[in-house]
Amino acid sequence: MNTTFLKKDLQDLESSGIYRALKTVDSPQGRQITLEGKRVLNFCSNDYLGLANDARIKAAAIEAVKEHGFGSGASRSICGNMAPHEKLEADLAQFKNTESALVYSSGYMANTGIIPALMDRRSVVLSDKLNHASIIDGTILSRAKLVRYPHADMQALEEILKYLPVTQRKLIVTDTVFSMDGDRAPLKEIVDMARRYEATVMVDEAHAFGVLGKHGSGLVEELGLEWQVDVQMGTLSKAAGCFGAYVCGTKVLRDFLINKSRSFIYTTAMPPALAQAARTALQIIRQGDQLRFNLQENTDHLRARLGMMGFDTMNSSTPIIPILVKDPVQAVAMSKQLLQKGIFVHAIRPPTVPMGTSRLRLTVTVTHTQEDLEQLLNAMKGL
Ligand SMILES: Cc1ncc(COP(=O)(O)O)c(C=O)c1O
Repeated sequence: MNTTFLKKDLQDLESSGIYRALKTVDSPQGRQITLEGKRVLNFCSNDYLGLANDARIKAAAIEAVKEHGFGSGASRSICGNMAPHEKLEADLAQFKNTESALVYSSGYMANTGIIPALMDRRSVVLSDKLNHASIIDGTILSRAKLVRYPHADMQALEEILKYLPVTQRKLIVTDTVFSMDGDRAPLKEIVDMARRYEATVMVDEAHAFGVLGKHGSGLVEELGLEWQVDVQMGTLSKAAGCFGAYVCGTKVLRDFLINKSRSFIYTTAMPPALAQAARTALQIIRQGDQLRFNLQENTDHLRARLGMMGFDTMNSSTPIIPILVKDPVQAVAMSKQLLQKGIFVHAIRPPTVPMGTSRLRLTVTVTHTQEDLEQLLNAMKGL
């Protein structure tokens, strides 16, 4: 293989400040991790509730390995549909207050499996400009027309909807918490508009699940919209500290996806121990009022202090706190400076975020102590 053009592209990425290199973590996840042999404070992970290394979840996984083995052997529709998968789906449906739930192997696979099953080349998908890449990829796979409306701009969304034929199949899809901006979607307005223009609504609760809502089930719960959002997708890989994803909705939706969703059908079922571990995570989330209260306190405190120091934290209202830098090279330099001071904060650059909006993306977890936050703020002073 001639790699000349690969090398040229890599050099271009490097000189534009958007080259990605992997760093090795040699410890469990937590507020402190061992990164390339050095202990650092971790402000990058989506482990908002500190469950990625939780003893109860680990014990559940180990017990389940003993009882069910490790591999699942086949896809769900052949012989890989094991009791823990069904039990997890029953738990999720109850928790999300929906008729049913279906589990996917990852959030990426859920979005690239749900959208193409529901939409076809005659359909239109209306997608917030800042939606996760997996939503865009799912839409491209569906062959539907992709219309990206400006971020959270309800007037722009209505202008598009107005001109679409009533009979055309339409899906409005939005992250509920935007993964790089940490703000909430205007979901109530989206749902109202969907009703007026006969569109289906799909949400991605990846960063809201476990964090928002009275019982931690997400923004849909926080706003009391359980019966108005048709397709509720979310991940088990962030606040739940596990891996995998779910979609909640009607029984018909579940049945349809089992029959039509290619990333569900043509892949081996998730390991049963993972499903069992996720059931334990769900129990912890259900009883996690105190965790969420403490997380909110950490988040409010950090955001307020960063604001006082003059940093632009954009419209964040969740534990994802962006610090707008704009220039990708500068964002990387700031991240490196922080790392030298023992603090791990990732620089986010295009194409993950739009050009000119490179940023540091801080994530706060419930496990961060006041001293951790002070250490971070002190290090930020020098930037
Ligand atoms: C909004 C959103 N949706 C989907 C995903 C994909 O989920 P997963 O990591 O489980 O594949 C992510 C994160 O990776 C995300 O931030």
